[in-house]
Amino acid sequence: MKEISLHILDIVQNSIAAKADSITVKIVEDLTTDTLVIEIIDNGSGMDKELAERIKDPFTTGRKTRRVGLGVPLLYDACTRCDGNLKIQSERGKGTTVIAWFKHSHIDRAPLGNMIETILTIVMGNPEIDFIYIHNYNSKEFRFDTREIKQALGEVSINEPQVLSWIKGFLEEGFNSLSGGAEK
Ligand SMILES: Nc1ncnc2c1ncn2[C@@H]1O[C@H](COP(=O)(O)OP(=O)(O)O)[C@@H](O)[C@H]1O
Ligand SMILES: [Mg+2]
Repeated sequence: MKEISLHILDIVQNSIAAKADSITVKIVEDLTTDTLVIEIIDNGSGMDKELAERIKDPFTTGRKTRRVGLGVPLLYDACTRCDGNLKIQSERGKGTTVIAWFKHSHIDRAPLGNMIETILTIVMGNPEIDFIYIHNYNSKEFRFDTREIKQALGEVSINEPQVLSWIKGFLEEGFNSLSGGAEK
């Protein structure tokens, strides 16, 4: 069973491959409705409706070197096993939104995994991309926005070790503030 943070990393890689310069990951955990919703929103190249419908099926992929794309189908499979689903909204030239949801308490639902590592991996590997992370846990919200950090940094790169270590601390504090109840 693959941790959800690793699925998110895969879906974000698609946004990066689609040349997005802005990527938002939003996670909403609502224990009253017993749902875990994940949204990945990008402003990349997008795809036409027909491809957006087809990619949940593992025998479709845009890559010529490998016939089977698995990022989307694996997440689709994980959601549908947990009374959830996956929807893709996309428009050519505008961008793509992937929405995946799970029954929060479902016995087959994978843990969220190490979201902090995942965020750091994305930021380190793609300093030029604006990355926004929003995590709601019941009524609490945590936000992380590299646009704000870049503005404060001026000429200094977001990839400087001291900056990354500050970001790590900021993320740790944010996840703790979410209730102590949000999974790590
Ligand atoms: N965010 C996106 N923007 C544009 N195209 C996308 C996006 N996500 C997926 N695709 C298209 O769907 C295909 C399948 O994606 P995926 O299942 O992750 O497999 P893979 O990345 O290995 O091809 C991609 O090759 C790409 O053509
Ligand atoms: Mg992929």
